[in-house]
Amino acid sequence: MTCFRTSGALVLAACLFVTKVSTESVITCEDNNSVLRMSCDSGVISLRTALYGREDAQICSVGRPPQQLANTNCAQQDTVNILRKNCEGKRWCELNPASVRVSDPCPGTYKYLEANYTCFPALHVVLCEHSMTRLYCDVGQVIMVYGAYYGRRDHTTCSDRRPKPQLENVECSNPVSKVEESCKGKNQCLIHASNTVFGDPCVGTFKYLEVAYACQYPV
Ligand SMILES: *[C@@H]1O[C@H](CO)[C@@H](O)[C@H](O)[C@H]1NC(C)=O
Ligand SMILES: *[C@@H]1O[C@H](CO)[C@@H](O)[C@H](O)[C@H]1NC(C)=O
Repeated sequence: MTCFRTSGALVLAACLFVTKVSTESVITCEDNNSVLRMSCDSGVISLRTALYGREDAQICSVGRPPQQLANTNCAQQDTVNILRKNCEGKRWCELNPASVRVSDPCPGTYKYLEANYTCFPALHVVLCEHSMTRLYCDVGQVIMVYGAYYGRRDHTTCSDRRPKPQLENVECSNPVSKVEESCKGKNQCLIHASNTVFGDPCVGTFKYLEVAYACQYPV
């Protein structure tokens, strides 16, 4: 059973809540301006399945000639893992279908991007560059990391008293493995949002670290 860390008596309620997770489904048609948006009011994104291609003749069919819709057996391999790499463990995530495309799985067919995800009740921590924090679980529990990203993807997070040029680049969200390496399976760990630890994915930008984690009893 997976639980998220809360104080004292709330832990049990949090564990029971896990069984009520429902799946959200979002679709966007391939277009230069289209965006697939996933978001969670509480918890973090956990990808279940994804499709880049076409498996349905009706979806994204308006105004399209029949020959672009006829092939309904078209799916790019491994699309779910591409989405995971970019979105797993985030509170919200936006992607253009073109950024998911590795190669064209069916030239001539009009494609779409579909994602099914759940909102997993993990804790979500944002740590501004140069700051440190300790992730910790209750006695007997250990940390599971669901996602960690270092960079910047909006203008407002960690923006207080920072000069504008340091906030402009919002295309800098970099999945990092170091958090999982140093925290997974431990009762607590110290993390430092710093270029020294993660490298500098966007020089001149003031960055932050996003981490989604949960506490669970070791299996
Ligand atoms: C999308 O962008 C590509 C490359 O920039 C261009 O060739 C294509 O015509 C655009 N498609 C639409 C629907 O605007
Ligand atoms: C997403 O879920 C819906 C509803 O269960 C299903 O019809 C669809 O095929 C799923 N999509 C993918 C890409 O698995």
